[in-house]
Amino acid sequence: MPSAPFASNPDHAHLRAAGVSLALDLSGDTLPRVLHWGADLGENASFAALRTTTQRQPIGNSIGGPVDVAVLPEQSAGWLGTPGLVGNRAGRDFSTAFRVTATSVSDGGVVVRAEDTAAALALELTVELTAAGLVRQRAVLTNTGGSPFAVDAVNLTLPVPPEAVELLDFTGRHLRERAPLRTAFTQGLRMRENRTGRTGYDSAYLLAAGTEAFGHRTGEVWAVHTAWSGNHRTFAERTFHAVSLLGSGELLLSGEVELAPGESYTSPWQYGSYGAGLDEVSARFHDDLRARPQHPSSPRPVVVNTWEAVYFDHDLTRLKDLADAAAAVGGERFVLDDGWFGSRRDDRRGLGDWYVSDEVWPDGLGPIIDHVTGLGLQFGLWVEPEMINEDSDLARAHPDWIMAPGDRLPGAARNQQVLDLARPEAFRYVFDRLDDLLSTYDISYLKWDHNRDLVEAGHRPTGRAGVHGQTLATYRLLDELRAQHPTVEIESCSSGGGRVDLAILQRTDRVWVSDCIDALERQSIQRWTNTLVPLELMGTHVGSGTSHTTHRRHPLDFRAGTALFGHFGIEWDLTKASEEDRTRLAEWVALYKEVRGLLHTGTAVHADHPDPAYHVHGVVAKDGTDALYAIVATDTSAYYPTGPVRLPGLDPERTYHVRPQAPGDVPDGNAVRWGVRLPWWTDEGITTTGRALAVAGVQAPVLFPERLVLVRATAR
Ligand code: DGJ
Repeated sequence: MPSAPFASNPDHAHLRAAGVSLALDLSGDTLPRVLHWGADLGENASFAALRTTTQRQPIGNSIGGPVDVAVLPEQSAGWLGTPGLVGNRAGRDFSTAFRVTATSVSDGGVVVRAEDTAAALALELTVELTAAGLVRQRAVLTNTGGSPFAVDAVNLTLPVPPEAVELLDFTGRHLRERAPLRTAFTQGLRMRENRTGRTGYDSAYLLAAGTEAFGHRTGEVWAVHTAWSGNHRTFAERTFHAVSLLGSGELLLSGEVELAPGESYTSPWQYGSYGAGLDEVSARFHDDLRARPQHPSSPRPVVVNTWEAVYFDHDLTRLKDLADAAAAVGGERFVLDDGWFGSRRDDRRGLGDWYVSDEVWPDGLGPIIDHVTGLGLQFGLWVEPEMINEDSDLARAHPDWIMAPGDRLPGAARNQQVLDLARPEAFRYVFDRLDDLLSTYDISYLKWDHNRDLVEAGHRPTGRAGVHGQTLATYRLLDELRAQHPTVEIESCSSGGGRVDLAILQRTDRVWVSDCIDALERQSIQRWTNTLVPLELMGTHVGSGTSHTTHRRHPLDFRAGTALFGHFGIEWDLTKASEEDRTRLAEWVALYKEVRGLLHTGTAVHADHPDPAYHVHGVVAKDGTDALYAIVATDTSAYYPTGPVRLPGLDPERTYHVRPQAPGDVPDGNAVRWGVRLPWWTDEGITTTGRALAVAGVQAPVLFPERLVLVRATAR
């Protein structure tokens, strides 16, 4: 007989949403413990039984009996791994034993208040399960004592089962963001720390633990993301007591956070996503982002960015010609990149002087903006508000506004330093300049750049490390500007994709995925960026025939078919493009406009195709009526012909009309190596079920390397 269902009550909470259960033990007066995070246990599950079946066998030498690890683990509760709280009060109060004082349980989550009266600390833990089945949790620590308390770390954790034996996380660098790393999940600690003062290239991004050889469509996967744009750590820890945790927190520099009496520290939100395969893990993040009231809902406009088209050559006539060419191919938003302000004629000077340059724009930005908006395009402007060149009027007037460990300046990077936004006067200056530009001109969009790591980034008035304060000040700057200019969209760029996280995405409308727009590199960078970020928030541009960053050459169809899966744009001097290319590009723009509704609301899917030379990915409409796939040859294959590929994610019960999607390599295209033609690769295509497409697949055309074809599947 099933035991009584466990409705919420003060000693436990069973949160369930979208196929996920989060079962929290709230009994006793110690901090909440997660007894199960993963597949839905169902409404008849017995919490009492779960509590008994998950309890560990007591072993010799352990402290105080069986150890259930709390979401903020403490040594006092028997946890000897990475601590939840690290801090001290002049060397004392280094270890806590929080006791719960109040618990409130609602449908979506739990808020627990606790105190350690001896250490004079209060803690508030919030643990939620969103409608998308995403866990999010954070801690607020308050100093209730009469003297300062130094906080070194606040780490939150989520448990995963022994079946999670492999880890996936990411590394990266400028021009090659989010390169996947696979390691075994064995005993010990895998700690991914990022000390670059921004989200960073070489940070975990997503740390996923999964069953053996888990893939996009296979296995069980538990993943965490640390929503923070400054220093942070994300880790996986497995003990010989068979406890396995995923954890994360802000990485605080020495002395960076000291709580005065009554002051609080708020940790970043930690997100946890469980799924049957990585695609499901990603879908939860995507659904959750899409449910936000501020999520961009207008069709994502075709961007034309001037950077790789003209770099610093700001010339009104040249840029008007570019805008004309942009409009002619169907561009909808023209973004004027770096070089429009102060003495900024190259990357050595001018940052901080947010006044339109008289030298290159003697009549202000009015003439170019009027021209662009006259063509029916929106106008966007590049800014880098957190930075300063030593060679700038701002630095000459306020040398002490530069972040530094003391009187000595850190080494310059890209010839620039960091402006200390935690200084109210510096913050106000930047806010006023941006506010003035947005109020004076018809600007719909800011490309908000951030081009260096924060190294030795101190707040000079206090002499303390300042990354924490800088991160919060940046959020405040974005929040205040958005409140003042609610219709202006903002892109998060950081030397390409160096600032991609869920906290920056709370206050921005897309991320620039990478400065590398080589389509081959982008296939990988976009695929993995998409594990967290939905396509409509990922900036993806078509570059010129020869990539500026790799010098590889690719045909337009491969470049455009790659940029299609994202927030599409063009970054190429179209005035120099051939007539033929411009005509073809206009066809791709037209396709993007036709399918952006599907791409930007549907579910992203990836086939786990075993041939490393082929990657198959796509987007399926939520109602299963429509889907678009790309079959991509990233290399030459060891197989000839290619063999079948699966088209995942369709409604198994429905029948679909499947055919090549133009433009690109339709039956008469130029990426497909034709011997005898593939029978279904015709204008008429084939009609079959979603189940057959997912299970038996379709024979893929033999492609030249670094080419792709599109396949459309429409429900009959
Ligand atoms: C780095 C960005 O990633 C580029 O797209 C471009 O905006 C440059 N900065 C401009 O300096």
